[in-house]
Amino acid sequence: MIHVRTGTDSQILSVGGYQPARVVPNSEIVDRIDSSDEWIRQRTGIETRRYAAPDESVIDMAEAACRQALSRAGISMEKIDTVILATITYPYQTPSAATALILRLGNPKAAAFDISAACAGFCYGVGMASDFIRSGTSKYVLVVGVEKLTDFLDLDDRATSFIFADGAGAVVIGPSDHPGIGPTIWGSDADSRDAILLEPSWNDVKNGAAGGVWPHLSQQGQTVFRWAVFSMSKAGLRALAAAHVRPDQLDAFIPHQANSRIIESMAREMKLPEKVVIAQDIRTSGNTSAASVPLAMAALLEEHPELHGGLALLIGYGAGLVYAGQVVQLPPKP
Ligand code: UT7
Repeated sequence: MIHVRTGTDSQILSVGGYQPARVVPNSEIVDRIDSSDEWIRQRTGIETRRYAAPDESVIDMAEAACRQALSRAGISMEKIDTVILATITYPYQTPSAATALILRLGNPKAAAFDISAACAGFCYGVGMASDFIRSGTSKYVLVVGVEKLTDFLDLDDRATSFIFADGAGAVVIGPSDHPGIGPTIWGSDADSRDAILLEPSWNDVKNGAAGGVWPHLSQQGQTVFRWAVFSMSKAGLRALAAAHVRPDQLDAFIPHQANSRIIESMAREMKLPEKVVIAQDIRTSGNTSAASVPLAMAALLEEHPELHGGLALLIGYGAGLVYAGQVVQLPPKP
């Protein structure tokens, strides 16, 4: 007979974030795409975003976010047995960004892997980390979302250049004496796989079929917008039901930061009461894909320290199209 390990309940012990120093206002972007500061603010909520320096890498940003999360949790890197890194912009197919990260952080023996679930990647990672701890596979897990989207952005593309940005966010997830992370609701709508693409492929770059075009993001904005408002509010309600949490028991709503109008529509569709604090980090961070939920969580807790320990609904969604969400207890005050 196989002996089965069993773990404990899980919870988020801390969150850390890193944003590059360079603040990029709308005014720096608009001329190349015949747009305006007013249009970008009204349609997306974005006022400024951060761009990484040319020599600043995905690993540099992930390291900074992880060091902050580890220090806030009071957990040394030696205790971390598993690292899950979500990204779509690490410019190497293999070895993974996660193994480069554990080397930097000084624990090259931890289990480490990357996941490719675009803007849902962080919430996919939180779900896996929680289940690893609950099953006894892992004890302390670092979940990192990091992107250097500016490496894969066409600054002349009117449909994407004003949206995407760079950054990293990380959480330490560990054992708990009570359930701190609800069941993950996740899935795909792969019929809309074309709605967000990063192309041409590396093969087409190699064999010349790309015509000298570097791989970059493109998206059918309206298709994604409609899908997000219609389907993601339903997914959010499913995550609440799965955790047996009513909307009026929530303290915060921390969705993927894609568009402030999507965020507001989702909150309306889910009938979240006024008292639920809604993360709108998009205003100063733009859309940082896998990094957006943990960065928004870190910013929300800075602005509202009273939310430490409160209940939050997380939901990430993006290219695939894929999504994941769960109710979590926000980390305690460091
Ligand atoms: O992170 C992954 C998930 N991604 C998302 O959730 C993104 C979801 N989509 C969106 O956030 C929005 O669709 C966008 C912000 C990308 C675009 O906003 P929109 O309200 O859907 O714009 P639209 O494409 O419907 O275009 C509306 C108008 C058009 O003009 P007319 O035909 O009404 O005269 C466009 O030509 O806005 C015009 N337009 C622009 N104007 C200034 C489109 N892009 C721009 C632009 N600047 N960059």
